[in-house]
Amino acid sequence: MTGDPLIDAAREAVDDAYVPYSEYRVGAAIKTADGSVFVGCNIENANYSNSLHAEEVAIAEAVKNGHTEFVRLAVASAAQDGVTPCGMCRQTLSEFCAESLSIVCDLGGEQVAEYTLGELLPNTISLHTLDAADRGGEP
Ligand code: THU
Ligand code: ZN
Repeated sequence: MTGDPLIDAAREAVDDAYVPYSEYRVGAAIKTADGSVFVGCNIENANYSNSLHAEEVAIAEAVKNGHTEFVRLAVASAAQDGVTPCGMCRQTLSEFCAESLSIVCDLGGEQVAEYTLGELLPNTISLHTLDAADRGGEP
């Protein structure tokens, strides 16, 4: 227990990870604007590229339950090494989350590293980027 319920939820989710290939367990917990929390773990596959990341699973769980506004994400691994969302997960987060989204990464005990999504993924492609198609971007 850390005293931070979102980190604790991410740590608990680590236990559900299905990781026969990497043996690297990850858990994620995302908090919605209305205070709900959804969790995910990584789920690997014999066809490695089919593997799901913990953050993707948590976001999918939230979105399928009707939540698309998020305020905070916690990520933990069994190694408690401060793992951050990978580039793909940062992009997936940016679809729904503002640059101000707080991301807390578990360093064990009560230690965390804190970032914003904007720090981890500045200048990303978004729905608004694609507006350029309406401004004559077609050949
Ligand atoms: N992993 C995640 O679940 N989230 C990330 O963003 C980083 C990587 C997982 C994928 C794979 O199952 C294992 O960690 C090793 O890369
Ligand atoms: Zn990822």
